[in-house]
Amino acid sequence: MDKMLERIYSMTNRELEECAAHLSLGGGTRGGPVLDHGKGVRVWDVNGKDYIDCTSQSWALLLGYCNEDINQVIREHSSNMTHIHQGFDNKVRFYLARELAKHAPEGMNRVSFTVGGGPAIEAAMKIAFKNVQPSREFVTLFDSYHGSTLGSMGASWISTKSVGKFFGGSRFLPLTRAFVRIPNPVTYRNPLGVDTEEYIDICLKMTREIFQRGVAGKPAGVIVEPIQASAGQLILPKRYLQELRALCDEFETLLIFDEIQTYGRIGETFAANYFGVTPDIICLGKSVGAGLPLAAIIIHDKLEGFSPDSEELHTFANPTLSMACAAKQLELFDNGVLENGRNMGKYLGDGLKKLQEKYPQIGDVRQLGMHIGVEFADEKLNPMTEEATKIRTVGFKNGLILGTGGVRKNVLKVKPPMIINQAECDEILEKFEASVKEVLG
Ligand SMILES: Cc1ncc(COP(=O)(O)O)c(C=O)c1O
Repeated sequence: MDKMLERIYSMTNRELEECAAHLSLGGGTRGGPVLDHGKGVRVWDVNGKDYIDCTSQSWALLLGYCNEDINQVIREHSSNMTHIHQGFDNKVRFYLARELAKHAPEGMNRVSFTVGGGPAIEAAMKIAFKNVQPSREFVTLFDSYHGSTLGSMGASWISTKSVGKFFGGSRFLPLTRAFVRIPNPVTYRNPLGVDTEEYIDICLKMTREIFQRGVAGKPAGVIVEPIQASAGQLILPKRYLQELRALCDEFETLLIFDEIQTYGRIGETFAANYFGVTPDIICLGKSVGAGLPLAAIIIHDKLEGFSPDSEELHTFANPTLSMACAAKQLELFDNGVLENGRNMGKYLGDGLKKLQEKYPQIGDVRQLGMHIGVEFADEKLNPMTEEATKIRTVGFKNGLILGTGGVRKNVLKVKPPMIINQAECDEILEKFEASVKEVLG
């Protein structure tokens, strides 16, 4: 083994603490284990304890840790090339652009690569401005999350107001854009207490009013996650998204799907196809590079794309290694991975719904493919934030890594890699129940 790697791998806990003093982090919920190595859905900490990872590391590892097929591509392609500047063509980029377009909704054929989810949102915003004039403002949904770069931060609820409290991003408000917000059609505990269909109608009516009277000029674009993930795994109703599409057409604005969390995970390559909606732009990030850094936007044929005069230029927007892995992952999607994710996701979702009978504090289980959220609430549907946080902490002790979400952080996310098998799902269900029991009794 390389001597430097050997030195890193053999560091003691004391040395790790010493190194940690040199780190400066701007986010991420720490307090979990220090990770050492992983395989499949499992990861080991530096003390040798193993965990099933239901976060897939910020939902990026759809194929799990150290997937053999991806590792083979990494080995072979990295001995050929790794970094190429955006200005140089290479076979991998051509190939991946064509493969993504093949899977995308009809009429979406041009791909532009970039360096992360936030930058992908910003790239989409640039395309929207180029194509929709006169316009100044973008529209996003209540509770959405679209990134923490200065361009995308204002679109995310974290940077504005959450439950009456200001969070990190609010320190930079003078530097971020002001986004116009529209209500999100939450189907569980909507704020007006009306039934779901009525609430969807109200949200759409409000959106129409806001397009008409709340925006200067035309809205440049509406940015929407088909499943609002950080907001608490809120699966937006098909009817809502389809009618939102029609509203965007009527007001000559663009519909921008943020598929940074839905790509592959719902058991379809693109959520747009599942929801029966062709957006104008799709943004990709997180899992698109099969665990390696990559992001992209795909734009509709009717749009004017980027001009090659530094409108959108990044040193690392042409990572051929990530692109080769992304192409391999697409092949694996078509060869059983998506189908397995759909089946195992349903199995996990059903198992979690059964737990609701024993624990009424599990207010809602929302599942589409392997995109699963478990909401904790009391009998009046008040969020049980403290309990959800404790369950996550106890989960670590029980060898289970869960994500947290929801504006009130009372949703636990169960989103393991799509290659999980039934025995591993059973293990998640057992460990989840043990953790719930320990906290709720
Ligand atoms: C839906 C969504 N959009 C955008 C982003 C931002 O992506 P990145 O962290 O790669 O900038 C995230 C990240 O959590 C996300 O969940």
